[in-house]
Amino acid sequence: MSFKVNENVTWVGKIDWELRKFHGEELSTHKGTSYNSYLVRGSEKTVLIDTVWKPFAEEFVNNLKKEIDLNEIDCIVANHGEVDHSGALSELLREIPGTPVYCSKAAVKSLKGQFHEDWNFQTVKTGDKLSLGDRELIFVEAKMLHWPDSMFCYLTGDNILFPNDAFGQHYASEHMFNELVDQDELYREAIKYYANILTPFSKLVTAKIKEVLDLNLQVDMICPSHGIIWRQDPLQIVKKYQEWADAYQENQLTIVYDTMWDGTRRTAEAIAGGIKEANSEITIKLYNGARSDINDVITEIFKSKGMVVGSPTINKGILHSIAALMEIAKGLNFQQKKGCAFGCYGWSGESVKLINGLLEEAGIELINTEGLRIPWSPDDEGVAAAKAYGREIGAALA
Ligand code: FEO
Repeated sequence: MSFKVNENVTWVGKIDWELRKFHGEELSTHKGTSYNSYLVRGSEKTVLIDTVWKPFAEEFVNNLKKEIDLNEIDCIVANHGEVDHSGALSELLREIPGTPVYCSKAAVKSLKGQFHEDWNFQTVKTGDKLSLGDRELIFVEAKMLHWPDSMFCYLTGDNILFPNDAFGQHYASEHMFNELVDQDELYREAIKYYANILTPFSKLVTAKIKEVLDLNLQVDMICPSHGIIWRQDPLQIVKKYQEWADAYQENQLTIVYDTMWDGTRRTAEAIAGGIKEANSEITIKLYNGARSDINDVITEIFKSKGMVVGSPTINKGILHSIAALMEIAKGLNFQQKKGCAFGCYGWSGESVKLINGLLEEAGIELINTEGLRIPWSPDDEGVAAAKAYGREIGAALA
């Protein structure tokens, strides 16, 4: 499959309808994804921007041969070394050895490290240009968006930005343009992608967007390397990224817990009731962390003013679904969110103190430094204590 993006640019990537986990088992992709590769034909040179994930390398190269004689590809741009975009380079360069690969200096390191090949690397930096004859590719390094080697490029004449992972979504669709797809689905996947992948780099996102906008380049289309192409009002996703990068929050609170014998679940629900009593406007999302998709929960936390986390104590520790959640939260480094801990216990009861410590490590401002500890399972008194705790949380987030 291939399709025309416009007269000069052809999409030659792979739609992966089956993918349900990305980065190994780390990130859920309920809607599949696509690996977008673009063939750009200038008056003098033809360039291929990015390839596809390795399992599709042979299929990719075979399809590419239907689109073009591979020997007519003058150069390849590798905007990013991660294998979902570079995975077909070996297969391709076996057919056209010696073809220059334009990439950042850091990408040489990552590509050599992964493929153990000494290809014809041509390193570029911000402002460098590659002439295709009647138009140029201008390179813009985008370090840590989301790898040190990440890079954007901009095609003059067609005014297309190719930002690789940025502005992408794990969203397989037969309609590859933004105005043709379900907008709720599109934005659900776009914000999930931002929340789970780009959150730690939000300050860099803000700075990079400013840097690109300050270049005063006209942007008629944004062609990311995952998901649909932003063709109609392409800067809408740039504006969204500016919002998301700026300590984004809606009037929402997420409660996540795990439970062994229902005590912590009942406590969670009582806390939610108390929050509602003190703050009727706030949306409360309640998840059992062990029974929910962790990346969807992270997305809801990203949208929230705060996170309230509960686990019973087990072996002087916490249940593993909550430990995993807090490990992800620590890495994402959410900004300007509040939270606190709760949990039931039978004997030693360390979980609440441990969770509060993990919340602090994740940069969450504690609403209550003691947390709520409920012995065994909440009775009427325990439910009342949980509701009071909820009212305190609700007031703190009003
Ligand atoms: Fe889509 Fe960072 O790879």
